[in-house]
Amino acid sequence: MQDLTTLVRNRHSAVKFVPNTPISEQELSEIFELVKLAPSAFNLQHTHYVPVMDEEVKEKIYQASGGQYKIKLASAVIAVFGDKEAYTHIAEMNEGFLSLGMIDRLQYDTTVRDVTEFYQMRGEDFQREEAIRNASLSAMMFMLIAKDKGWDTCPMIGFDPKAVSEAVGAPDNLYPVMLITIGKEDSDRRRARGYRKPVSEFVTFNRF
Ligand SMILES: Cc1cc2nc3c(=O)[nH]c(=O)nc-3n(C[C@H](O)[C@H](O)[C@H](O)COP(=O)(O)O)c2cc1C
Repeated sequence: MQDLTTLVRNRHSAVKFVPNTPISEQELSEIFELVKLAPSAFNLQHTHYVPVMDEEVKEKIYQASGGQYKIKLASAVIAVFGDKEAYTHIAEMNEGFLSLGMIDRLQYDTTVRDVTEFYQMRGEDFQREEAIRNASLSAMMFMLIAKDKGWDTCPMIGFDPKAVSEAVGAPDNLYPVMLITIGKEDSDRRRARGYRKPVSEFVTFNRF
C-alpha cells in the first residue's frame, strides 16, 4: 500500500513487460472490486472491461493494435468499452434505492424519465461521448488501483476499434474506448518521465 501521492508519482506507462507473468481472474477481480467505485454520470456505470489472457484472442488484439509488441509480453490486454446505451438501464440502477425506501416511487419515476430524456434529446454523438468520458475515468481508476496492487499498465489508443470489437465479440452498443496492457514492467526498459507542462500552462483560474 502506498499513499496516493506516492502512487500517482510512481505510475507511469510501461514500455515493456516481463514475459510469461500470468495474472489470474482472481487478481483482476480484486482490482475491479475497487474500480466499481468509480464515479459515473447518474451512476449509470457505462464502463465494460474485457480482460484478455487467452492467447488466441490476444493475438487478434495484437494484430488490431498494428503489432504493438507490448501486448504480446503483457500478462493481459484489457479492452475497455463504454456503453452508449447505458442510460437505458437507469431504472435497474435505481431499484435498490426504491426497495430500501431511500427514494419514493415518484422520485424513482421522475429520475427514470428525466435521465432517459436527457440522453435521448442529446442524441447519438452525446451518447458516444458519455461512453468515452465515463469509461476514461474508470480506466484511470483501474490503472491506479492496479499499480497499488503491484501491477504496471499502459493505456493504448493505437488500435482498429472494429477489429478489437470483433476479436472479443462485443455487441454494437459497446464503444471501444481504449486498450490497457497490464503486467510486471521490465524496469531495464523504463522510459524517463516525459516533459510535463508547468501548472500555469494547463490551469486557467476563473476564466480565459
Ligand atoms: C488515451 C491514451 C492513449 C495512449 N496510447 C498509447 C499507445 O497506443 N501506445 C503506447 O505505447 N502508449 C500509449 N499511451 C501512453 C502515453 O504515451 C503516456 O501516458 C505518456 O507518454 C505519458 O507517460 P506516462 O504515462 O508514463 O506518465 C497512451 C496514453 C493515453 C492516456
